[in-house]
Amino acid sequence: MYMLDIFDMDDEVLRSQTESVDEFDDALKILVDAMFETLEEAEGVGLAAPQVGISKKIFVVNTRKKGERYALINPEIIETSVDLVPYEEGCLSIPGFYRDVMRPARVKVQAQDVSGKFFTLDAEGLLARVIQHENDHLNGVLFIDHLDEKEKDKVVSLFHKKKKKYSRKAR
Ligand code: NI
Repeated sequence: MYMLDIFDMDDEVLRSQTESVDEFDDALKILVDAMFETLEEAEGVGLAAPQVGISKKIFVVNTRKKGERYALINPEIIETSVDLVPYEEGCLSIPGFYRDVMRPARVKVQAQDVSGKFFTLDAEGLLARVIQHENDHLNGVLFIDHLDEKEKDKVVSLFHKKKKKYSRKAR
């Protein structure tokens, strides 16, 4: 088991631009495997490298259906549908908070796999949602940034209250 620590939204790494991956070596494969294990253990549907403290263009997705389990390296969203839909999002870096976010219903994404091979995915539904959420992480963007200012402030302050409470308990 290679479980990785998940960084929360207060960590600077979650707000940084990421670098492209240019070496498709064993270290990358080990990292991606560890990210999948960490994601599945946390019962999430997506995990981006900045969330485990690594500022690189990598994310993993597992919607738990239809074999939708992918590692996307250097992803680029190349098409988005005009129609927007609401969908309730959460984030392993902001645990316990869920809010509706409007985004394009469908996307086409191009990426490389762990061997460096290019592929494209046409995604809709949950998969499209997770891809957009994780892709945001590679640009230092969190789902709360898509909420209106007031709602975002509310989530941030509740998150900090909760974090303070837990850190007191831990001592
Ligand atoms: Ni997230």
